[in-house]
Amino acid sequence: MDRMRVVGGKTLRGEVRASGAKNSALKMLFASLLAEGRHEFSNVPDLKDVDSSFALLESLNCKARREGDRVIIDVAAPGNFEAHYDLVRKMRASILCLGPLLAKYGQAQVSLPGGCAIGSRPINLHLEGMKALGAEIELKNGYVHASVPGGRLQGGQILFEFATVGGTENVMMAATLANGTTYIENAAKEPEIVDLANYLNKMGAKISGAGTSIIRVDGVKSLNASQHRVIPDRIEAGTLLLAGAIAGGDVTVTDCVPDDLDALLAKLREAGHEIHAGPNQVRIKSSGGARCVDITTAPHPGFPTDLQAQFMSLMCVSEGVSVISETVFENRFMHVTELLRLGADITPKTRVAVVRGKPGGLEGAPVMATDLRASACLVLAGLAARGETVVNRIYHLDRGYEKLENKLSSLGAAVERF
Ligand code: UD1
Repeated sequence: MDRMRVVGGKTLRGEVRASGAKNSALKMLFASLLAEGRHEFSNVPDLKDVDSSFALLESLNCKARREGDRVIIDVAAPGNFEAHYDLVRKMRASILCLGPLLAKYGQAQVSLPGGCAIGSRPINLHLEGMKALGAEIELKNGYVHASVPGGRLQGGQILFEFATVGGTENVMMAATLANGTTYIENAAKEPEIVDLANYLNKMGAKISGAGTSIIRVDGVKSLNASQHRVIPDRIEAGTLLLAGAIAGGDVTVTDCVPDDLDALLAKLREAGHEIHAGPNQVRIKSSGGARCVDITTAPHPGFPTDLQAQFMSLMCVSEGVSVISETVFENRFMHVTELLRLGADITPKTRVAVVRGKPGGLEGAPVMATDLRASACLVLAGLAARGETVVNRIYHLDRGYEKLENKLSSLGAAVERF
């Protein structure tokens, strides 16, 4: 099993490019199920989760192949409509095939994803959304059995009690082929939702309001396969900027969308780091002496839960005290016990962690990655720790970061996989 060795204390300098957004690419791959034919996507990151999506699409009679950063999906009518447990448990995003299959073929059997390291992560809101569009849902033997009487969904009105990202995407995709108009209220506003809506509209869908809290979808009879370039990954870009902050130096992340990083950039400035945002790049200059600041995670445009763990690593070596509140997931502090192994001073409570910063106070140790963003947090902490940190179970990192060790090494970090 691969591990990552990080030797701390190196200053980072240079330019590094952000890859395409995982959380956009995966949803778009499933959107392809809405139209038979050849879909082409570029700027698709080379990640384990993308491979898992290929496996699911192939089980549904599609052909998926990669050529560099391009992905071509040939969609044909599936022989079955099942997302098997073995595929869904590997990657929760697999439940995003529910909306497309229901909309196009009037039926789907999708395994319930079960719990995950960061919380229980139910899908009740996805299912309520499908019911509001006329689907019949039954939970049986660990699967969602969904069907549409008459074969075609009906437009409807959905008010989400929480602005769920996955739920908004699933219902938005389902509504594209429904009879009539659908309104999704309290919709999630993440940039990845806008990107997905843009692709669906290229396919012929009629979606407006994506990126606001009310999305309107006017159902159309059919959609066509099309082409699209995936937006840059704001979480990867943020992680690389945080690497620059924690290790000190002068790092420019190119090919990113600074506006999508507003919440992070505001906090980095407040903490005393120098930030220069250009049209499609962000430069961070950091010379140590940064301060602790408080963060509260929230749906976009709030501080992203997917950067909470990495930000905590920075707070561990900044001056002062930071209160980190996690409002999106109930159990997203698994990285705390590992940071304690590096010598951090953190008191975790339910959904709140108090970090007492110790500039220069971390020491290398073997640690264990528990989930995707926690892995990145431990690699970043290793950049600031004295001596050698070995991060075990690095396979979590490969789900969502494209060759992070190469990107960090290109900036001068001492990071290697072994
Ligand atoms: C969430 C993040 C997303 C991140 C992704 C992967 C938010 C709002 N969403 O998206 O930015 O990229 O994780 O880490 O930050 N919920 C329900 N019932 C449902 C669906 C969700 O109760 O049917 C709850 C979840 O348990 C959670 C919250 O709503 O507490 C947000 O979930 P949701 O946005 O749907 O999660 P993801 O789509 O996985």
